[in-house]
Amino acid sequence: GQYLLVTIDGPSGAGKGTLSQLLAKALGASLLDSGALYRLVALSSLKRGIAADDVVSLSETARQLDVVFRPEEGTTMLEGEDVTQAIRAETVSMLASQVAALQPVRDALLERQRQFSKGQSLVADGRDMGTTVFPEADVKFFLTASSEARAQRRYKQLLERGEEVDLQQLIADIEDRDLRDRSRAVSPLRPAPDAIEIDSTNLTIPQVLELMLSHASNH
Ligand code: C5P
Repeated sequence: GQYLLVTIDGPSGAGKGTLSQLLAKALGASLLDSGALYRLVALSSLKRGIAADDVVSLSETARQLDVVFRPEEGTTMLEGEDVTQAIRAETVSMLASQVAALQPVRDALLERQRQFSKGQSLVADGRDMGTTVFPEADVKFFLTASSEARAQRRYKQLLERGEEVDLQQLIADIEDRDLRDRSRAVSPLRPAPDAIEIDSTNLTIPQVLELMLSHASNH
């Protein structure tokens, strides 16, 4: 078609966030950080005091999510408040992966995600972009890395943000979250049949970007 649709799925810490930003920029495409939507549902439910197992209220929260992404500033606004940092906290990460396992929450976010591909080229970053949300995507990537490498990267990120974290705890959390993402009944983390798999353990960011661009340029 007229617009290019690229998906990048994979476990946390594989470099999807950085690479989807770089790829979107290089392609002149918009960016959908779908994980941010699940994080926003988690943060919003924390603020409202909604329990992690209150499926009805959680899906209602997802449906009513008042969010504005400001790509130029790199900020995320929830009900007019800048929550760019808040949604990256570890407590929010853990809750996000719990609410993401609930089908009604995923259903509530589906149409909102699909709207991002309307009338523009898009790079969509998440767990089920190539399988569930955009099965018709032009180019699908599945980006992985060893769990040690992913934990190390996340550790560095969190330290840079001034968050106190224990590396061993972080490895445990990442493996926990991965297991939940891969084994959940709804939209489990797995590569689409037509996805290009890239293991970034021993690759630099520019190397992965170059690889992705070479695949995307065939479209
Ligand atoms: O990618 P990120 O770590 O920001 O995602 C937060 C959580 O949201 C993940 O742990 C995952 O459980 C969930 N998620 C999802 N489907 C997506 C994106 C994220 O289930 N497409």
